[in-house]
Amino acid sequence: MCTFSLSLSLLLCGKSQIPVYLEAFLNPEKRREGMGEEKKPQSRGVWPTVKPFVNGGASGMLATCVIQPIDMIKVRIQLGQGSATEVTKTMLKNEGFGALYKGLSAGLLRQATYTTARLGTFKILTSKAIEANDGKPLPLYQKALCGLTAGAIGASVGSPADLALIRMQADATLPAAQRRNYSNAFNALFRIVSDEGVLALWKGAGPTVVRAMALNMGMLASYDQSVEFCKDSLGFGEMSTVLGASTVSGFFAAACSLPFDYVKTQIQKMQPDAQGKYPYTGSMDCALKTFKSGGPFKFYTGFPVYCVRIAPHVMMTWIFLNQIQKLEKSVGL
Ligand SMILES: *[C@@H]1O[C@H](CO)[C@@H](O)[C@H](O)[C@H]1NC(C)=O
Repeated sequence: MCTFSLSLSLLLCGKSQIPVYLEAFLNPEKRREGMGEEKKPQSRGVWPTVKPFVNGGASGMLATCVIQPIDMIKVRIQLGQGSATEVTKTMLKNEGFGALYKGLSAGLLRQATYTTARLGTFKILTSKAIEANDGKPLPLYQKALCGLTAGAIGASVGSPADLALIRMQADATLPAAQRRNYSNAFNALFRIVSDEGVLALWKGAGPTVVRAMALNMGMLASYDQSVEFCKDSLGFGEMSTVLGASTVSGFFAAACSLPFDYVKTQIQKMQPDAQGKYPYTGSMDCALKTFKSGGPFKFYTGFPVYCVRIAPHVMMTWIFLNQIQKLEKSVGL
């Protein structure tokens, strides 16, 4: 957590200055306003359509580059290998810098597909909806619908990389004889296709897509809504708006997806009893039985831990996206 806030503050103080200066120097907003009635510059070509996808993927990948080593260190601290500094020092000394980024290729490929698709789709969908709404801000339920759709598309596109990531992470915990020994994400994808067929890339994607729909509905809708609220109602500056909105967004991403994550995990780890009977016949059965026996709050078991796992990546993604957009604006892209 300490390392996380350190890199967060470094990022906010260090990176934000450059675009601010550039912007003040070029001042594209003021110039545009000064020309009065002139239409917003209509960008030509494919770039306006491609841009939200590129920006989304890039911010997700940058967030992963920051979060992945922190996650790695966190796991080792939890395994009782010492404090953050001790763990980092020993790891760098014994295993080298690369150890921090073990398995990064799969994480990056996942962002390059999943986050590219979901953030790009969300932007395109909301722009279309705002157009249809005469340029007025969308009601929350429409933002939620856009988020839901974007999540479904993102998770479907990202499913192969997700499978590669899960298998590579699980590999180390398997007995040596059962290991798959994928050398990287592309090797994993190639071998899954050649050994099990193309459709195997979408194996078990159903629950993942449902969870992603809930997660992205919470994350995307709450971010847009909070940005409007912070800017328009509270009069926050840019930095506080992005920080505030991304925190809210991280919280709702976790809060909306945990029930689905809970069911998914219960199904994955269920064991047959003495008669060989499984406790649940499927996701619906699991959800109903959980609700009957433990009530609605049963689905929120372990919420703080889950929040800490989900929220930092969501927050970093928004912060990077904002920085990328500022940089593009300042160079006129
Ligand atoms: C992976 O490597 C282990 C030895 O480290 C071996 O026992 C296992 O058969 C290998 N798996 C495959 C799929 O080649």
